[in-house]
Amino acid sequence: MSKTKWPGSVLLAPVPPVLVSCGDTASANILTVGWTGVLNTKPPMTYISLRPSRLSHQIITKSREFTINLSTEALVRAVDFCGVRSGREINKFETMKLKTTPGDTVACPILSDSPLSLECRVKEIIALGTHDLFIAEILAVHVEDRLIDANGKLHLDKAKLLAYVHGEYFGLGEKLGSFGYSVRKKKKQKAPVDKK
Ligand SMILES: Cc1cc2nc3c(=O)[nH]c(=O)nc-3n(C[C@H](O)[C@H](O)[C@H](O)COP(=O)(O)O)c2cc1C
Repeated sequence: MSKTKWPGSVLLAPVPPVLVSCGDTASANILTVGWTGVLNTKPPMTYISLRPSRLSHQIITKSREFTINLSTEALVRAVDFCGVRSGREINKFETMKLKTTPGDTVACPILSDSPLSLECRVKEIIALGTHDLFIAEILAVHVEDRLIDANGKLHLDKAKLLAYVHGEYFGLGEKLGSFGYSVRKKKKQKAPVDKK
C-alpha cells in the first residue's frame, strides 16, 4: 500500500459526534462534541475536549457537570446545528425541538431522543493548546428500554448510532464481527441423527 506522509494532525476517524448538555434546567445549553472517548473502565471515566471560546466551556468549568448523549441518524440535523450555533445566540433545545428530562445525579438535562446518555462529573481540567480536556467520571447511564432485551442484554446496534468522519456524518454499516470472534472456536456440527 503506497502512502503519503503528512505532518501530525487530528485525522482519527470515525469519532462519535455526541450531544453534550450542560447547565441546569433553567439555563441549560447543548453543543456537539467530536473529541470524546473512553479513558478508564473502573471507575468509568470519559473526556470531552472543548475550546475555551465555547459557551459550554464556561458553563462546565463552573458547574463541573455535563451529560453525553449518543446521537442517532434521526438526530443528525440537530447534531450539526448544535455544532455550528452557540447558546449565546439562541436556545438550541427550542430551535431544534429537543425534548429533555432532568438528570438524576447531575443538574444537566438528558436528551429524551438520545438512546443512551451518560451523566458525568468533572474530575480534572487540563489545558492542552487549542482545547481544554475535561476528564470526568461517569456517574449514571440512561438507556432506552427498547434496546434492552428480556435478559437485560443491551442491543446498542439497534440504536442507529451516528459516526463522524473527516467533516461528514455517516450511519453505521453492517455488522462484521463481535468481540473475540477472530479466535473463537467454531461450534462442531452435530452428526445427523438417524431416526430410522
Ligand atoms: C461534528 C462536530 C463536532 C464538534 N466537536 C467539537 C469538539 O470536540 N470540541 C469543541 O470545542 N467544539 C466542537 N464542535 C464545535 C461546537 O459544537 C460549536 O462551536 C458550538 O457552536 C459551541 O456551542 P456553545 O457556544 O453553545 O457551547 C463541533 C462541531 C461539530 C459540528
